[in-house]
Amino acid sequence: MVPTPSAPVFEHHAPHRLGTGEAAPRLSWLVDGAAQGYRQHAARVQVLTTTPRGQQTRSTHHLPGPDQVLVPWPSAPVASRTRIAVRVQVDDGDAWSPWGPWGHVETGLLDPADWTARPVGPPPSQDGEPGRVRATFHLPADPVHARLYLSAHGLVEAEVNGRRVGDEELTPGWTSYRHRLRYATFDVTEQVRAGENALGLWLGDGWWRGRLGFGEGVERFYGDHLAVIAQLEVVDADGERHVVSSGPGWRTGRGPVRASGLYDGEHVDLRDDDPSWSTPEHDDATWGPVVVHELDPGSALVAPTGPPVRCVEELEPVSAVEREPGRWVLDFGQNHSGRLQVRASGPAGHQLRFRHAEVLVDGELHTAPLRSALATDVLVLDGTDVEWEPRFTVHGYRYAEVSGWSGPLRPGDVVSRVLSSDVPRTGWFRCSDPLLQRLHENVVWGARSNFVDVPTDCPQRDERLGWTGDLQVFAPTAAFLFGVTGMLTSWLRDLAAEQEELDWVPPFVPYLPLPPFTELPRDPMAVWGDVAVLTPDVLHTATGDAALLRAQLPSAVRWLQHVERSAGPGRVVHDTEQLGDWLDPAAPPENPFEATTDRFLVATAYFAHAAARLAATARTLGEDRLAHEQEVLAGEVRSAFAREFLTPDGRPRDDTQTAHALATVFGLWPDERTAAAGGRRLAELVREADGRIATGFAGTPVVCDALTRAGHVEEAYRLLQSTHCPSWLYTVLQGATTIWERWDAIRPDGSVNDPTMTSFNHYALGAVADWLHRVVAGLAPAAPGYRHVLFAPRPGGTLTSAGATHSSPYGTVSIDWSLAPEGMHVEVVVPPGVTATVDLPGAPPVQVEHGRHTFHQPVPRHPDQHDQHDAQEAL
Ligand code: BGC
Repeated sequence: MVPTPSAPVFEHHAPHRLGTGEAAPRLSWLVDGAAQGYRQHAARVQVLTTTPRGQQTRSTHHLPGPDQVLVPWPSAPVASRTRIAVRVQVDDGDAWSPWGPWGHVETGLLDPADWTARPVGPPPSQDGEPGRVRATFHLPADPVHARLYLSAHGLVEAEVNGRRVGDEELTPGWTSYRHRLRYATFDVTEQVRAGENALGLWLGDGWWRGRLGFGEGVERFYGDHLAVIAQLEVVDADGERHVVSSGPGWRTGRGPVRASGLYDGEHVDLRDDDPSWSTPEHDDATWGPVVVHELDPGSALVAPTGPPVRCVEELEPVSAVEREPGRWVLDFGQNHSGRLQVRASGPAGHQLRFRHAEVLVDGELHTAPLRSALATDVLVLDGTDVEWEPRFTVHGYRYAEVSGWSGPLRPGDVVSRVLSSDVPRTGWFRCSDPLLQRLHENVVWGARSNFVDVPTDCPQRDERLGWTGDLQVFAPTAAFLFGVTGMLTSWLRDLAAEQEELDWVPPFVPYLPLPPFTELPRDPMAVWGDVAVLTPDVLHTATGDAALLRAQLPSAVRWLQHVERSAGPGRVVHDTEQLGDWLDPAAPPENPFEATTDRFLVATAYFAHAAARLAATARTLGEDRLAHEQEVLAGEVRSAFAREFLTPDGRPRDDTQTAHALATVFGLWPDERTAAAGGRRLAELVREADGRIATGFAGTPVVCDALTRAGHVEEAYRLLQSTHCPSWLYTVLQGATTIWERWDAIRPDGSVNDPTMTSFNHYALGAVADWLHRVVAGLAPAAPGYRHVLFAPRPGGTLTSAGATHSSPYGTVSIDWSLAPEGMHVEVVVPPGVTATVDLPGAPPVQVEHGRHTFHQPVPRHPDQHDQHDAQEAL
């Protein structure tokens, strides 16, 4: 076998990404075909750069050592618009491998001075119609290289010479526009030609001008106007460069879109469309001059660090019922984010209406949980056969109602296009319990539905905000299941920018001035604000990206300083706005923060934990003084926690699952005796509740870990496999296809909970999947980037087998175990460059290197609990 390196990838970008923002991108590669015991002694990296005019540089670099993940750029920083090709050769100590295949990436516009485009758009209209923009241009010769750099105040979709450009949706996404405005890059070489050309741009309100937020919400928050920022750069066959930039002279006119909103949907009248509008032949005499705007001087145009939103899958209805003539209710079988694509025909002026909802009541859409979001698309036909999909909206739904339909509804007439940030799937879980398998599937769909450019709380109602707490608790699960680091790098930059401006980590990023938060003091809100420390840490663990940790360090430090200031010398969080163990099942439906666990206990526990994690971050980055300060601080907070929230004999004053779980997982017990007693009490609480869960956003992610660490893994399984309300599997038995916001979003009597706050697609309570991966299947990173892996499966409950696979930065890691009367059979796969500890119940841990390894462990059905405790401690 000959080891062969893969085509390298750049930063966290997908292969062949255009318009990246790094002049010195880090490189990662995998190695295929390496023999057991393989080690990389050195690598040779060949770099080929090409400018749009075809000028090339070539260099080769010798890199001693084993590094193959996020390896610093070995060559000189590249300029804007550079096509980069890199290939790698590895030395295993005996010989050099052959060259691997080339990996490609292309930089965008790295310097603000590269931009000549200015924002241009229609005059602000009172009726809210978004309008369109177009421009024509002449090319003297055929193009050899053409790129469209595109952004907007609002949302934009481009057409060149009558054809849509690219497959990205909701461009340019949602960033904290006042600080950072993203742009997208498209290859349009095949779409432009010698002679006359036209560029047409659809506009939508999106996040810029649309209605956002709960309650009264905000509208036109970023601006009153819509505008495109478009720069088309062409090099032709004669080597001439042509730049067509949005600015004065571009034209604007009405299109068929009457209104377009993310929450409310899109209203389109095809009678006002002229498909030639984006061709040079179009007569634009009725079009007028554009209004030219300015770029916000405080806001930079930035390249994406993650993937765009795309249609990632299409769903066909699993049932279609005609409720009355022409009115159909469709079930797509799966709750998700997306929108419909329809093939329709009918007389000009005939109107079709599409509504969306997550659940049905009495066979009809139940839209109360959407609150004020209309989630309704309207299409007025022009008398021709059309295939149509709204452009600038997205809905969260499983069911859709189609009204105004004539004739039968045939397969393919209406499909649902699933929209999501196109993050690559990297994690899988399997097990012998079909209900648990479905629960895991629901977690995956929760991530897909809520990663639509920004990590949101929910995708359906008038909210869909980047709630920090939701992501904070879900991040470990997300980072296992999907390659989210690129996407979250951008979001964390926004978080730092908002924090800097507000002197506060706001509860949602991008921040919007929404009551009640505008009226409340800007207190540090635990669990939510802790995202500033904990999420960079999680992403670093998943990918080994220390630069991300470094970049977010000031934000993390600033967060802890805020908590420290607010807690004062007593080191106990008190008298502040806290969301606490949000939505524990006993909290009153209308007051979800009134959980049974004292919110200041939760906040102080998080204070200690965040200080400890910041200390660890600082150590990783070689910031030893900071590390020491934070270690001391964490110790002081732990003592304060014990004084304030534990009884003199070391029991939590709040006798709740959450209090015990936080104390256990965050290491807040004063000594081993109280820790053991706390663990026992937690197990007892679970038994007393007959396996019903009693935790909210703060307790849920840690409760199964706490039981495992305390040596009560059977009680963890009892929670996990309970089907009583409230529990995870209760939701599955009620037919959930995503994770619910509330444990009892549908009550046992079948009624839907509180109409003002019941989403069926909130990922937070799905944070248990992280435990499924690490403990049930038994696959956990034990060093950043999975360079060292811990396989420590702990069978329990009714499971007879389980497994997990993760596409780690070094390659595929996997484990499968099954139980047989003679014991446990385990098979693990370790990729080259990785070492692993295999820690099976009842056996001493074993170290392995890359390769496939099998184990037979003649253990009793129930694991040795002390081993589990030790294994978790070793992490
Ligand atoms: C959101 C949550 C969020 C919470 C905090 C809700 O409206 O949907 O998921 O974290 O508010 O207040």
